[in-house]
Amino acid sequence: WPALAGDIEAILSLKHERNAVILAHNYQTPEIFHTVADIVGDSLALAREAATTDADIIVVAGVHFMAETAKLLNPNKTVLIPDSKAGCSLAESITAEDVRKLRAQHPGVPVVTYVNTSAAVKAESDVCCTSGNAKKVIESLGVSKVIMLPDEFLAQNTAAQIPGVEIITWAGHCEVHERFTAEDIRSVRESYPDVVVLVHPEAPPEVVAEADFAGSTAGMIDFVGQKRPGRVALVTECSMSDNVAVEYPEVEFVRPCNLCPHMKRITLPNIRKALELRQHEVLIDPTLAARARIAVERMLAVR
Ligand code: 13P
Ligand code: SF4
Repeated sequence: WPALAGDIEAILSLKHERNAVILAHNYQTPEIFHTVADIVGDSLALAREAATTDADIIVVAGVHFMAETAKLLNPNKTVLIPDSKAGCSLAESITAEDVRKLRAQHPGVPVVTYVNTSAAVKAESDVCCTSGNAKKVIESLGVSKVIMLPDEFLAQNTAAQIPGVEIITWAGHCEVHERFTAEDIRSVRESYPDVVVLVHPEAPPEVVAEADFAGSTAGMIDFVGQKRPGRVALVTECSMSDNVAVEYPEVEFVRPCNLCPHMKRITLPNIRKALELRQHEVLIDPTLAARARIAVERMLAVR
């Protein structure tokens, strides 16, 4: 604890000295989420906040694609990620060349790209989406066919909500959510018959089918805040339950959950180091960034 307190104190004063802001994803550990973070949220909320901050330095306590999105929206600011190896299995699953090939196979079909991708992939896309706005973004296009990349399960789960639109998918998966099974949910319900089950839409459709609600991490938090279930299972990354449980002590949180090894690369000591040494700065080629920014800004314009 004294070491943690020392890091927290140092981070708070470095933020003040350097006019820095810390954006933290909902999957960050409670000692980051509840102490040093200025803004917490899902991928959509972090992108929206990144677009409006007046800080000089943005530290992203999250994974690399989130830091890249922040940089796309703030080309003149310093964006830091405390561990540059904090990746994502979805972002790794597809390249810009893959998107160009898909476009050639499906001429004229718009490409909707999950934010969990590199800037190079975003640059080949028409519009981005997150798990919190995928349906709205696709509906905003007013077309009957889209390519949705790279998360196959998010695409299938979104397609189920928009029956009039054909969605061409890519076989990318989140290594955290693909491991959940329908049997996991059934066994939680057997142990706790009154449990309310919330699932992230990166999980396979048969898992979503067993749930009471599927939504982004922010969607799950809102659900708990509004409905106050007596007992809830957040079928997603483990830190979600830890973070939300602090806010709702009267709600009992049961698992299953899986850890994201990429999110867990971010720690208080490396956030402190990032601020002390201004490392690791996220840089994107300006020509590529200009194209990728269009896809992100189109997404942010969808309300
Ligand atoms: P959201 O927070 O946007 O729901 O995304 C979950 C996720 O897996 C981010 O890496
Ligand atoms: Fe990527 Fe899944 Fe980890 Fe999110 S939870 S960063 S989608 S691997």
